[in-house]
Amino acid sequence: MGFTGRSFVKALTPPLIMDGIRWLRKGVPDQMPLDGETGNSARSFDHQETVGGMWDEIGELQYRYLVDNGLKPHHKLLDVGCGSLRGGVHFIRYLESGRYYGIDKSLSLLDAARLVELPRYGLTDKTVHLTCRSDFDFTVFGAKFDYAIAQSVFTHIPWNSILRCLVNIEKVLQRDGSFFVTFFEDKNGEHRTRTITHDPGGIVTYSDQDPYHYEFDVFEELAKRVSLKAHYVGNWNHPRNQMMMVFTQQ
Ligand SMILES: C[S@@+](CC[C@H](N)C(=O)[O-])C[C@H]1O[C@@H](n2cnc3c(N)ncnc32)[C@H](O)[C@@H]1O
Repeated sequence: MGFTGRSFVKALTPPLIMDGIRWLRKGVPDQMPLDGETGNSARSFDHQETVGGMWDEIGELQYRYLVDNGLKPHHKLLDVGCGSLRGGVHFIRYLESGRYYGIDKSLSLLDAARLVELPRYGLTDKTVHLTCRSDFDFTVFGAKFDYAIAQSVFTHIPWNSILRCLVNIEKVLQRDGSFFVTFFEDKNGEHRTRTITHDPGGIVTYSDQDPYHYEFDVFEELAKRVSLKAHYVGNWNHPRNQMMMVFTQQ
């Protein structure tokens, strides 16, 4: 990922001044709050709030979960929709240098990751592979992965984009690799045309708009089309009631 002069200047400019500049332009911020996890204000860009806040809790949760499920320092990890490295900073600290790969469609989040979070966590001496793209083409890294994770990503995209992601993950996942993915669950398809308010967290999800809920068997079906297998995990103590599943090679 390269840095433009603009993104570098933005990273060095105090947030309040950047807010003021955006306000004067009367434009939308370059990154709207994502999520079922919502940011504080649609007019400010805070890279931690933009990925949903709860920075320490959700960052440590995903790191601890993968380590408990076998992630070792020598493994290669792909972080799909890595954002500003909420989980990434923990993974990078734990993994051997050069073993962490992150991909995200938002350049401003990746800029914040590199220019703010990596220095803040004292991780600038580690080799980190970050790329900005939205097509889920993971072959650009030229690597095969033991582990992959998409934390709060399938919660924001329609099933045809999920299929694209699965088609591509299948190409880069080691034979015994695992792809851990979180999702908002519509148990038994009871809410195909209705909203769900999730507890804990109070996030409202939809069948046909962001943030999305899905029945697990939708993922089973998509996985079959690309020679993957979807395994239900369920509750993993996510503070906003996102469930966990894992995709493996068949
Ligand atoms: C709620 S944030 C979660 C970020 C990170 N996984 C975490 O736990 O902090 C969702 C992320 O998915 C990214 N994203 C959504 N669609 C994407 C796509 N098609 N390709 C790459 N990244 C995408 C967004 O830019 C955002 O950073």
